[in-house]
Amino acid sequence: MRIRPYIEFDPDRGLLIGGLPAVSLAKKHGTPLYVYSEDAIRESMREYTSSLSDIYPTSTIVYASKAYLTMRMAQLVREEGLWLDVSSGGELYLALKANFPPERIVFHGNNKSEEEIAMAVSAGVGRIAIDNVTELERVQKEAASQGVVQKVFLRLTPGIDPHTHEYLSTGVIDSKFGIPMHSGQHLDAVRMTLASENLELMGIHCHIGSQIFDDSPFLLAAGIMVDFAAEVRDKLGYVIPELDLGGGLGVRYKSGCPGICGRDGGRGGNPDVGGRNGAIARHLRAVAKRVKEACLRNGLPVPRLFFEPGRSIVAEAAVTLYTVGTVKALPNGTLIAAVDGGMSDNPRPALYGAEYDAVFAGPYHGGGLLSYRLVGKHCEEGDTLVRSAYLPRLSPGDVVAVLVSGAYQYSMRSNYNHLPNPAVVHVSGGKSFVVVERETLEDLIAKERPLPCSLEEAGPEVAGEN
Ligand SMILES: Cc1ncc(COP(=O)(O)O)c(C=O)c1O
Repeated sequence: MRIRPYIEFDPDRGLLIGGLPAVSLAKKHGTPLYVYSEDAIRESMREYTSSLSDIYPTSTIVYASKAYLTMRMAQLVREEGLWLDVSSGGELYLALKANFPPERIVFHGNNKSEEEIAMAVSAGVGRIAIDNVTELERVQKEAASQGVVQKVFLRLTPGIDPHTHEYLSTGVIDSKFGIPMHSGQHLDAVRMTLASENLELMGIHCHIGSQIFDDSPFLLAAGIMVDFAAEVRDKLGYVIPELDLGGGLGVRYKSGCPGICGRDGGRGGNPDVGGRNGAIARHLRAVAKRVKEACLRNGLPVPRLFFEPGRSIVAEAAVTLYTVGTVKALPNGTLIAAVDGGMSDNPRPALYGAEYDAVFAGPYHGGGLLSYRLVGKHCEEGDTLVRSAYLPRLSPGDVVAVLVSGAYQYSMRSNYNHLPNPAVVHVSGGKSFVVVERETLEDLIAKERPLPCSLEEAGPEVAGEN
């Protein structure tokens, strides 16, 4: 039975990821364990890169690495010909170390430091997405000091509420991101950029939010951005050559949930039937069509169009494997199964109330399923991974898998309670390989610098002055 692309269940072998049994992977690499199917990742990327080739060939897909970034992932993105969105010096550093071509990098962030800007300019990143006027001045200054002209986007906030979780909504008028598209600030920012000798205004950018299931806010944003490009042409005589509409397409975390982008084409249907069903392509084509219409209406040439998907490329490509440690029945009948990870490897349920499905990873031939609350091992009552997972009767040592684990989990991991971070394993061509090693207890204390004696006894060279 197919559960997600490249993830299936076989009654005799249990859960299979890229054809490999989850229980064998758990045995070989330990748990908790993030397991990604590279075929699934590549397939999503190809769906993105091929969807517009006929109707909008001047389009570029930028993978939003905040969803999941390892050096191996950067290699996959490079091989598939996408660009990469990074939003910190750390992500940029990793990408460069993985030999990602800098000219295909878009550097984001709402508070880039001078050091990060210097790093991005000297690396020769393709675009810096400028978030605010202070940053505009900083990038100009840095580019001037390095004697280069830096290509930039201006990140604008179109004031659209995409009706997702408020923490995932980034395009509303009071968002912390971008330059608000009201009271003329956005036009002033364009004017300033055009007047800056060391900046080349390549495009305007917006990202309205994440986990969005409806095309309409994207269509609205596309129209608003093109209308603004027309205003820039009319008032400042400059035709903006590029338009970046961000990412944000939602994925279906739980089977049976409705959602246009959950690979079931909006029918909320059975994931076993039809798989992706072209939901990405339908979405991109609708948005691209809206951009073309708006350009026609405004008499503008169509811009090169950028999309920045993150979640919809990697979320479904991974599962997290856990080993059950203890099982309890509460007086009210609730069954609790505690696993060997939790909010340190997946903070999303505690942070956003995100919901997941879990499945039994071993062989299973049917029979009664029980509803378990799957909890982690952290010292927080909110450390629940799945509120109600239907699983066969569990015993300590059983392996369970949380599905749709590929986005904003590994990248949002922490060491809360000093739990070492899990390993990350990729599966491809019937083989599994470690792309990030499991942390050790020694790693957890590697940066600790305890004093050799009391603070009073320590000389100034140990304890410092002031
Ligand atoms: C600027 C920008 N682009 C793209 C994305 C990717 O969004 P998603 O993972 O929902 O596709 C984000 C995520 O928040 C973002 O901030």
